[in-house]
Amino acid sequence: MHDDKIILGFETSCDETAIAIMKGDELLVNTISSQIDIHEKFGGVVPEVASRAHAEMIRNIFHSSLNNANLQISDIDIVSTTDGPGLVGSLVVGYNFAKSIAWSINKPFFTVDHMVGHLAAPLIENNTMKPPFITLLVSGGHTQIVFVEEWGSYQLLGTTIDDAAGEAFDKLSRFCGFGFPGGPAIQKIGEGGDPAKIELPRPKTKHAYNYSFSGLKTAATNFLNNLDIDDKVTRADFAASYQEAIVDSLLSNFVKAVKDTGVKSISGGGGVMANSRLREKMNIFAEEKELNIYLPTPKLSTDNAAMICVAAQNNLITNDMNIDDVRLNSIIT
Ligand code: KG4
Ligand code: ZN
Repeated sequence: MHDDKIILGFETSCDETAIAIMKGDELLVNTISSQIDIHEKFGGVVPEVASRAHAEMIRNIFHSSLNNANLQISDIDIVSTTDGPGLVGSLVVGYNFAKSIAWSINKPFFTVDHMVGHLAAPLIENNTMKPPFITLLVSGGHTQIVFVEEWGSYQLLGTTIDDAAGEAFDKLSRFCGFGFPGGPAIQKIGEGGDPAKIELPRPKTKHAYNYSFSGLKTAATNFLNNLDIDDKVTRADFAASYQEAIVDSLLSNFVKAVKDTGVKSISGGGGVMANSRLREKMNIFAEEKELNIYLPTPKLSTDNAAMICVAAQNNLITNDMNIDDVRLNSIIT
């Protein structure tokens, strides 16, 4: 697919300062410095605090990443970074740092749409993933079904009309005091719970492939507000039932899109794809329908910079490189 050039990637769109270095297909370093501890007390990411933390950390993380890969800055052949979507102040830190490096060593500089990064993430560990395929991209800000006919051709089939799937986890978790970020917190609390214990809606929209999660979130909070003192509902049952409703909703539109298009390969990405119940149900669907399935590992589903490296590498096949930005095709957001 590509040669053994050394590519440096940056991802600072939200609350992770992430830097990766790849040599061809080999992931040399995948540094992810999370700001969860900093934002936890606020119950969500505070944009100004996030950009400040990126600015404070990025230089040290860059140097330790180079050291861990046993490389000098002059060994880098290509520099890539996320340029959005995300928190502007956070993006600017990574973008400017990455571009300065590219300028200083006079090497090509690529910017990558964050969601294209998530889309490309399965390639980090398995470069056999090939279009055509349909992918389910589920993060804190996006919920998208994307048809990838060929590399660079991304057709948005469905999206959320209100909250993203990750947002639905995060907001309910904050309401219940379950912890931050909400997805992993709800997954953990729900372990051993009965996913069928509480009847929650599986919201539908007019458009067959679009999503809506705000009604589900309201139904769950109403359920809690109306609980009777005698009701025998555990935290585990509640969390498992809420998770199940999100996973079922995600799957139903996705399955329809796969059936309608007749593709033989499916994929996924974004933080919510780290969810074990979602992964289990995606795998069962693929097995039943004999589809190829490409999922990034949970660690590579959440934000990381290796996904930015592989997205940029794919673009290298078709674009001339120069010091000016070469922006990869962006999914409509
Ligand atoms: O892609 P990501 O790391 O950052 C954004 O681009 O937003 O996704 C973060 C989202 C958060 O909403 C978080 O709660 C959710 O992914 N998440 C999960 C899990 N791990 C992270 N949701 C459900 N189950 C998980 N295990
Ligand atoms: Zn993301």
